[in-house]
Amino acid sequence: MKTQIIKIDEKNIDEDLISDAANVIKEGGIVAFPTETVYGLGANGLDEEAVKNIYKAKGRPSDNPLILHISSIEEIDPLVEEIPKLAYGCMKRFWPGPLTIIFKKSKIIPSIITAGLDTVAIRMPDHPIASRLIAKSTVPIAAPSANLSGKPSPTKGEHVIEDMMGKIEMIIDGGETGVGLESTVLDLSTEIPTILRPGGITLEELREVIPKAVQDASITDKDKTPKSPGQKYRHYAPDAEMILYTGDIEEIVRQIKEQSIKLINEGKNVGIMATEETKNRYREGKILVMGSRQKRETIAHNLFDVLRSFDELNVDIILAEGVDSDNIGMAIMNRMVKAASGQVIKL
Ligand code: TXA
Ligand code: MG
Repeated sequence: MKTQIIKIDEKNIDEDLISDAANVIKEGGIVAFPTETVYGLGANGLDEEAVKNIYKAKGRPSDNPLILHISSIEEIDPLVEEIPKLAYGCMKRFWPGPLTIIFKKSKIIPSIITAGLDTVAIRMPDHPIASRLIAKSTVPIAAPSANLSGKPSPTKGEHVIEDMMGKIEMIIDGGETGVGLESTVLDLSTEIPTILRPGGITLEELREVIPKAVQDASITDKDKTPKSPGQKYRHYAPDAEMILYTGDIEEIVRQIKEQSIKLINEGKNVGIMATEETKNRYREGKILVMGSRQKRETIAHNLFDVLRSFDELNVDIILAEGVDSDNIGMAIMNRMVKAASGQVIKL
């Protein structure tokens, strides 16, 4: 398939280009587009054939449901059976934004979207290109992250081109995404409001609106089975093996230094995932900086790009510094633990 790449400036949107992209969606094709979290791989969410092609392009298992993206709150009505009271406060405070809410689904949602579940995930992105594309398409857009299944989610046009060239009709390159991690997935279809995936909206922020919100036990305990199908898969994985160090930062730096010297002496090509505050402490290995510990949003923003960069550097093993897991740190550490396939050293 020939993939058309178009560049759109989010600060000066070319409506003709948006119309071209919306036409691809209306005709049942797939368009990759930027959101404020990561790039999405979008198709008409009410067109079963189109949605099937999303799973194919990503190589995604069919038991992992997709998020429907809308551009205004009214668009939700036909998609859900009911809107629980708690949802209004959340939508008002966090939409448009990086919060996905799980509702009981209505009958018009094809079961391929929900992987057979009786619930549907809905999100209203806060990105002008995404909003215009959804509005012009006049349908809810089903969109998983636009990476090949298992790889880190794309946060730059180049990442999408790397993974999706030749597999989909169109890629909108709109530059870098903002948050850099995916949306928080919040289940409001059950008695207890539960975060199934930590993301751009933190537990602390959510509790300002829903004090009794909890996190699915699997987020902090890897021996528990996740409630969200997507959380059980190997994810965000760089090509190289990765070991994540958590706990006291002085001890982390000491251990990574020691381990990197040992591995380099064994002839290994070693990558180190460091932070602004620690980067000058390392003397050997390929050192990439995720961002600043003082401003963990910068780490969220760069994390997936850094993971992809290590693939290009052909490292054999990555030694990564963990961060504190409160606020946005929860989502960062969730992705890092998965990228390390659970190889975590607690110090
Ligand atoms: O930020 C994001 O959410 C990005 C952008 C493109 O919007 N999208 C994204 O989609 O991350 P995806 O498909 O990579 O992840 C969706 C997650 C998966 O873990 C999936 O299992 C979960 O949401 N999910 C979707 N529908 C669900 C449902 N009905 N019940 C439980 N979990 C659901
Ligand atoms: Mg994904």
